[in-house]
Amino acid sequence: MARATTPQDLTITPRDRRFGRGTKQARWWMGGDPVATAFYNALSATFPKGEAYFVESVRAFREGTPPKLAEEIKGFVTQEVMHSREHVQFNKRALEAGYDLGPLEKRLEWRLSITKGRPPVVNLAATMCLEHFTAILAHQLLKNPRHLAGAGPEDAALWRWHSIEEIEHKAVAYDTWLHATRDWPRRKRFRVKLKVMLFVTRNFIVDRTFGSLELLRQDGITGPKAWARILWFAWVRPGMLRKVFGAWLAFFMPGFHPWNQDDRHLIAATEARLQPQGAEAYA
Ligand SMILES: [Fe+2]
Ligand SMILES: [Fe+2]
Repeated sequence: MARATTPQDLTITPRDRRFGRGTKQARWWMGGDPVATAFYNALSATFPKGEAYFVESVRAFREGTPPKLAEEIKGFVTQEVMHSREHVQFNKRALEAGYDLGPLEKRLEWRLSITKGRPPVVNLAATMCLEHFTAILAHQLLKNPRHLAGAGPEDAALWRWHSIEEIEHKAVAYDTWLHATRDWPRRKRFRVKLKVMLFVTRNFIVDRTFGSLELLRQDGITGPKAWARILWFAWVRPGMLRKVFGAWLAFFMPGFHPWNQDDRHLIAATEARLQPQGAEAYA
């Protein structure tokens, strides 16, 4: 397949929105389901520090990029900073609902402390891989309304807003990587990409499963029952991880580029339903 490039008419537009301020969050905000809640809370717990790491990794390569990419990096940074701000608030509400996200944050800090000692281009590669992961999860979240069906309007709007912007900036880290490694032989590029993607995918799955199990433990759900329920949720029904598997695999195909799949229609359709104040018209 011929490699697509980032669409010329794509603009990365930070949408400065705020969600759920002054509201109290139900402990099991996802349809009263502790398992679904644990899955999304475990993801959210990692966003503030994780996205700060993405920003840092991409920024390190901004110097000398073509003007269009430099502009996109700026948009990407602003979007990620606002995502962190909103997920800090979201995590605060989870805390008020009785969850301790400390163990999840500690595990992420430990992962990041290992990665941060590696050369900057390895951090860029890790970010590029994780941004692909985020974009395919965002795509799935918007494509299939079932995933957020149990969430209240403010929480659903937060996750949809975040997903829109993840799709919009999905190729920024990738294009920065292409630029940073433009002198590398193809095989070396592919080898690093393959190794890093397998590594971050393993860590992502292990750590998010660990995080979900920890939150379920705080709900008094432990042992094989907790494992069975979280694995069922993630892999079977609604099966977010199973559903993104094909898109994950596409990353390794020759000529891959995030915009080989132009999914801007999901941005437009979702945005039309998100009201400016954050609540949404999904009735
Ligand atoms: Fe983000
Ligand atoms: Fe992102």
